[in-house]
Amino acid sequence: MNSARVVIDPAFRIGEADRRLFGSFVEHMGRCVYGGIFEPGHPTADALGLRGDVLELTRELGVSVVRYPGGNFVSGYRWEDGTGPVGDRPRRLDLAWKTVETNRFGLDEFMVWTRAAGVEPMLAVNLGTRGVQEALDLLEYANHPGGTHLSDLRRKHGAEQPYGVRLWCLGNELDGPWQVGHKTAEEYGRLAAETARAMKMIDPGISLVACGSSNRAMPTFGSWEATVLEHAYEHVDFISAHTYYDPSDGDRASILASAVDMDAFIDEVVATADHVGAKLHNRKKLKVSFDEWNVWYQSRLQHDLDRRGWVEAPALIEDDYTDTDAVVVGDLLITLLRHADRVGVACQAQLANVIAPIRTETGGRAWRQSIFHPFALTARHARGTVLRTEPVTPSHETAKYGSVPTLSTVAVHDEETDALAVFAVNRGEDPLSVEFDLRAFPQHRALEHLTLDGPPRRLENAGRTTVQLAGASWNLLRSS
Ligand code: AHR
Repeated sequence: MNSARVVIDPAFRIGEADRRLFGSFVEHMGRCVYGGIFEPGHPTADALGLRGDVLELTRELGVSVVRYPGGNFVSGYRWEDGTGPVGDRPRRLDLAWKTVETNRFGLDEFMVWTRAAGVEPMLAVNLGTRGVQEALDLLEYANHPGGTHLSDLRRKHGAEQPYGVRLWCLGNELDGPWQVGHKTAEEYGRLAAETARAMKMIDPGISLVACGSSNRAMPTFGSWEATVLEHAYEHVDFISAHTYYDPSDGDRASILASAVDMDAFIDEVVATADHVGAKLHNRKKLKVSFDEWNVWYQSRLQHDLDRRGWVEAPALIEDDYTDTDAVVVGDLLITLLRHADRVGVACQAQLANVIAPIRTETGGRAWRQSIFHPFALTARHARGTVLRTEPVTPSHETAKYGSVPTLSTVAVHDEETDALAVFAVNRGEDPLSVEFDLRAFPQHRALEHLTLDGPPRRLENAGRTTVQLAGASWNLLRSS
C-alpha cells in the first residue's frame, strides 16, 4: 500500500481559522431565493415567507457570512426595488439570468433572514449599470442611524436600528464580457476607487472588496488585478477571486486535484496584490475574498438558459452532486484554510438549489447534498490556529495539472480546548496509509477517524496515529 507521513507541530502556525472562511452566497438566481430560502405559504415558512427548514439546514451547515444579492444579478439591480411595501414593488427584467424579478424579496427581508440564520451579511453594490451615488444611497439606507432621507426610509420600512453591514463588494466580475456593464480594468479600477473612497466617508468602519478576475483562466488574469489595484489599493481591504471546477468531462483524476489549481490561484493573486502594494510604498497587506467557489457542472447552464423565455425563478443549474464532488469540496476547504494568513473571506456558491449544498422542492422538503457534509464538518471542527503540514506524500499524474501530491492535509489546533483536528484528502484511487507524527502533542495519543468516501462514517482506529485513507476520500482525524 502507498504510504505518507505528516508532522503536526504547533510551531508551524499559519493564522487563525477565521469564521469568515465558511461563508456562502445567496443570489437572485434560479430558485436560490424564491423557492429556496424564501417561499411564502410553505408549511415551514414564517409570516415573512422565510423557509424554516432551509434556515435550520443553514445553521447546521455552519455558515458564517452570506454574500447577497449577486453575482451577475447585481450588475443590473436597483436595490431600492426590493424595499418598501411588497405590493408596490416593480417587476423587472433580470438580464443576467433572463428572468423576471418580482422583488418580493429584497434587502429588508434578507437582513431579517441573516439574523434568523445567525450569519453576517456581505452586500454587493451594483457597479455594472450604476455608480458611486447609488452605492452611497444603499450604504446610507443600510448603515446610517437616522435623520436623513434614506436612513429614515429604512426606519419607515420597519428597521429602526441600522443594519451595520461591515462587508461590501464593489460590484461583481466586471472583467467578464458576460457582465451587464462589463468594464476594462482601467474603467473599473477608477470606479472602484471612487466608490470606495466615498463609501468610507459615510462609514469608515466598513471593509471593501475590489473585484479580481472571474477565474484564473481569464485572458486578463493578473493584469486585471494589477491595474485595478493601482487605482484602488489604498481604499480597499480585499481583492476577490472566483473559481468553479467542472467535472462534466469525466476526468476524475483531474477533478480530484482541483485544489492544486485553487492553491496556485491564491498564491498568484496574493503575489500580484503585494507587488502593487510594494510599488505604491503601501505597507498595508490586502487579503483575498474568495467569494465564489464550488464544483459546478457548467455545461448544463446553457441548456437551462436556452429552453425558456422570461419567467419567474426557473430551476437553474440545480446540480446533483456525487461523492467525488464532496471530496473535492473538502479539499478546496483544506486549501482555503492553508491560506488562512491571506484569505480573509470565502463564500461557497451558492446556498440553496443553485449549485448548492441545500436543495428544496417548492412546497415540499429540503435536503442535504453530498457536498453539505465536508463543509459542515470543516466549519464545525476547524476552530483555533491553522497549522501548516507538509506531507511527505506520493504523487500521481493528472491530465489537467500534471503531477500532483496525492495527499492533501491541514491541521487546526484549538488552544483553549486543546482539540486538534486534521483534515486529509486522498486524491488518488488507491488506499493510502498515513502516519501522523504527533510528537509535539504528547497529550494526544489517538485519532478518531471520520471519513467521506460516500455518506459520513466513523472508522475504528483502535487508538493509533497511523490511519488508512480510502482512495478518493475526505477524512477528519480528531483528538482532544
Ligand atoms: O454563482 C453563479 C454565477 O457565477 C455568479 O452569478 C457569477 O458571479 C459567477 O460567474
